[in-house]
Amino acid sequence: MKHVLRSLQNQTNSPKKHFHQNTLYQHQTPPSPPIHFLLHLPPSFHQVSCHTASDDLHQTLFSYLQIKRMAEEAVLGFLEKNDEIKDSGDFAAEKGISHEEIVNVIKSLNGFRYVDAQDIKKERWQLTAEGKTYAANGSPEFQLFMAVPAEGISRVELQKKLGDSVFKIGCQQAIKNKWMEMGKSQVSRKVAHVDDNVKEMLVKINDGEALNQEDIDALKRRKLISPLVWKGYSVKKGPNYAPKRRKPATDLTRVNLQSGEWKELQFKEFNFLAKGFPIEGGYLHPLLKVRRQMQMIFLQMGFEEMPTNNYVESSFWNFDALFQPQQHPARDSHDTFFLKEPSTTNMLPEDYVERVKQIHESGGHGSRGYGYDWKREEANKNLLRTHTTAVSSRMLYALAKKPFEAKRYYSIDRVFRNEAVDRTHLAEFHQIEGLICDRGLSLGDLQGVLHDFFSRLGMSKLRFKPAYNPYTEPSMEIFGYHEGLKKWVEVGNSGMFRPEMLLPMGLPEDVTVIAWGLSLERPTMILYGIDNIRDLFGHKVDLGLIKSNPICRIGI
Ligand code: PHE
Repeated sequence: MKHVLRSLQNQTNSPKKHFHQNTLYQHQTPPSPPIHFLLHLPPSFHQVSCHTASDDLHQTLFSYLQIKRMAEEAVLGFLEKNDEIKDSGDFAAEKGISHEEIVNVIKSLNGFRYVDAQDIKKERWQLTAEGKTYAANGSPEFQLFMAVPAEGISRVELQKKLGDSVFKIGCQQAIKNKWMEMGKSQVSRKVAHVDDNVKEMLVKINDGEALNQEDIDALKRRKLISPLVWKGYSVKKGPNYAPKRRKPATDLTRVNLQSGEWKELQFKEFNFLAKGFPIEGGYLHPLLKVRRQMQMIFLQMGFEEMPTNNYVESSFWNFDALFQPQQHPARDSHDTFFLKEPSTTNMLPEDYVERVKQIHESGGHGSRGYGYDWKREEANKNLLRTHTTAVSSRMLYALAKKPFEAKRYYSIDRVFRNEAVDRTHLAEFHQIEGLICDRGLSLGDLQGVLHDFFSRLGMSKLRFKPAYNPYTEPSMEIFGYHEGLKKWVEVGNSGMFRPEMLLPMGLPEDVTVIAWGLSLERPTMILYGIDNIRDLFGHKVDLGLIKSNPICRIGI
């Protein structure tokens, strides 16, 4: 409850806190919402119907607001008839309202210039713990005097009677006051009667009575009193004084125009410096932004998009058509997700399947093939495509059926691999793939296109490393120099599709296809400085990251 009150207090005292609806109309120091806040209670206050702690809370909140209203009426009402509240402390006592409450109201009214408040600081004195015991039991010197009988007493016995600390302090002070005769072993009175002035002074301080400076200094030296600073205000009418707080109008309405009320109304000023509220709309995921950039690059380079809207593919198109032998480890269920239902396809182009079988088993077109027993059942198996090159093979086959036409194709879509998930690997990710199909293309053309493509991404230094893919020869891994990270990073894989892949499709002999592929996640992670792929994609993605990430700059 205390907590609720404190936060309410903070809201009502701080002119900087705004209410949402008023953004445009905010006054430089917008009015705090003390009373109408009552009407804006959070919905949970109204909705809870059973009587329990929340009813009590409601009740307390209600009386808190009433007190606040009373305090405000008291201050404004008093100033209506009087020039000044000289001391907020006296005023609070007079009205029977806590000083804290009066101070809160004064601060708030002062913020809106209803009143003009001046600080007053008063130093009061309070008893220390030691001072309190002496105010109750008498000063040590007095206790000591009283403990000494007329005939005197031995030091040892006196100390036993009084205790160490009262004895020690009592002796010092009594000697100073010349109350006592301190012999070697005997203590006796020097005077017949003494007054306990110290106790009297302490009691006076406790009752808030004034003492002269000399006495104060003496008590201070003995650490029997300590200062207590009291802060309050003196209050006069401010430039915006009104006997009642007015809620400034935020809009000029037809009703107040017709009634003439507009003449009297006080309008809130526009606050052109107020920030608007961030729009809570949709946000583009970084992968979508980078995908868009990649698409733009491909389109600018004259590429057409391939239809990739089939996650499920047959082994035939994903592997066999790409001259990937059926014993290849990538075709193992450890690497590839196979479908249970439907587990096989029944839609393969039979004549082409026959030519693929031939090339695997015994070769042709100058190739020796793999020399194994090619099985149709293996090709029929359905899987989640492991690369978008499956789509490229379908597209090239379709192209081969028509009179030849040079093409530039690209795709960016999802692929799946049965991989152990770690900081840089997921079981599904996105591939970017580009290919150019034309007569007489060479490895030099591939390198040239790659230079063009990657320099549009901000990477103009490339290196190539010989690699192996079942479907390309030669094959090259692509490394790019990252100017920001100051190092070479692997950016993709590439090659020229093998004749064993292209000729069974029926493409003319002099047609070559250069192609490359890369993941979408990798450049995105580099661009956004994300080092764990699971922060970018999957169920652990932080939506905050998606809302706050900057507009993608091009330049890996
Ligand atoms: N399919 C390859 C991969 O999954 C990429 C690639 C595409 C390589 C085209 C060469 C040619 O990594």
